Amino acid sequence: MKVGIATLASLAATSGLGLVHAQYVATDHIRVFLFGQTSYFSEVAVDVHNDTCLSLDNNLIDGKVQSVLVGGHDIWDVYQRYDKWYCVLYDNFDCTGSEESMITVAGGTNNLATASWANRVHGLRCINDDPA
Ligand SMILES: *[C@@H]1O[C@H](CO)[C@@H](O)[C@H](O)[C@H]1NC(C)=O
Repeated sequence: MKVGIATLASLAATSGLGLVHAQYVATDHIRVFLFGQTSYFSEVAVDVHNDTCLSLDNNLIDGKVQSVLVGGHDIWDVYQRYDKWYCVLYDNFDCTGSEESMITVAGGTNNLATASWANRVHGLRCINDDPA
């Protein structure tokens, strides 16, 4: 299931600094920014609902993700987060498998290649650990 895919260009137009955090992080969902390498389609924002697998199948960034930011469009937004969301990235579309099939990121990671995860992300699941 794909939810709320938008390009950063359209997001940037609507986001003021103070509002960003509130818009991107909610109790039941969080916005995750995926960055690829290609210049023509290198940034995608997805809204991920709590404990729900979001498949990148049919998404242009599938298999091209190099960097991830959770809950903010840039590092300053992410620094301002005090929630308990974290995301697990998977090398498959179903968000399944053992430890080798997944990597956990809380705030984000700049360079998935350094963890041997360049171009491997096909699905993600985010979890809000704050007791509801
Ligand atoms: C999110 O899902 C996890 C796993 O199902 C659950 O433990 C947690 O309470 C949920 N968070 C909220 C805020 O509902």
